[in-house]
Amino acid sequence: MPSFAVIGASRGVGLELVRQLSASAANTVIVTVRNKEKSTHLNELVQASKSKNIHIVEANVADHHALERAAAEAAQITGGSLDVLVHNAARMEAENMIKGFLDYDTPEKLDAEFLASFKVNVLGVVHTVNAFLPLLRRGTTKKIIIIGSEGGDCGLVWKMRLSNAAAYGTTKAAENMVATKYAAELESEGFTVVSVSPGMVDVSGTATSSVVSPETMPTVTKIMNGIFAAFPKAAMITPEESGRRLVSFFDSVGPAESGVFRPSMEYLD
Ligand SMILES: NC(=O)c1ccc[n+]([C@@H]2O[C@H](COP(=O)([O-])OP(=O)(O)OC[C@H]3O[C@@H](n4cnc5c(N)ncnc54)[C@H](OP(=O)(O)O)[C@@H]3O)[C@@H](O)[C@H]2O)c1
Repeated sequence: MPSFAVIGASRGVGLELVRQLSASAANTVIVTVRNKEKSTHLNELVQASKSKNIHIVEANVADHHALERAAAEAAQITGGSLDVLVHNAARMEAENMIKGFLDYDTPEKLDAEFLASFKVNVLGVVHTVNAFLPLLRRGTTKKIIIIGSEGGDCGLVWKMRLSNAAAYGTTKAAENMVATKYAAELESEGFTVVSVSPGMVDVSGTATSSVVSPETMPTVTKIMNGIFAAFPKAAMITPEESGRRLVSFFDSVGPAESGVFRPSMEYLD
């Protein structure tokens, strides 16, 4: 009876992971969301699920007390253990997502966005892992998967000359370091801790807002041109395709791959 907790999965890649993981009736899938009532796509999935193995728990990853309560609820559901923790939540607010360091109206707005991003994309991961660690220690596979991004890999960002998405990229880079630190901390206990990219995924089908508008179109085009110039094989994939790759990765990844960010395969030459 493998158990999974997918953190921050009301929509997008996380929602698809829940769909695919819950398709196997033997799996127990705990999903955390900020607001259960507003998680309409997830609620539809739960309604349609034949296996009844999806358990929704509320937690904002910026609130460590909420994460502790979520872990306690998860323990009630599983009997105290957890096999695989998947941290998916990320701050990707359309308004600031593509801004570079020079694009904020005021230094105060820059500070606010960076601090909010750090709280979710970095400390959110740390508090999630800390809250669920006692359950994972009692689990069978001891896997912690953090959904990372090429946008947080210095070498890849340089290759793409990607100056945009500064708050997102800087905090996703720090998130990779969080994975590496936990990998080192937990190696002797047999844990696998890894940050992995889902690929360039079209999540517009479940999005609550879009970075693409007439005003942002030139910037979005510049970003996409930079990606394709650096990685000609890069391609937009569906959530289904991304989910298939990730679920297979969760299954195969082991301690030998711990501690290192894994970019999506379509970026690799
Ligand atoms: N899509 C891509 O092309 C791509 C590429 C590289 C990496 N990634 C990574 O893949 C992951 C998923 O991205 P996505 O494209 O699926 O994004 P998305 O559609 O915007 O979904 C983001 C999810 O994070 C949740 N979330 C945001 N802030 C949260 C918070 N404070 N506490 C709890 N949950 C929170 C959102 O919940 P609400 O509904 O409550 O807002 C939502 O479920 C992210 O880690 C992202 O960095 C995505």
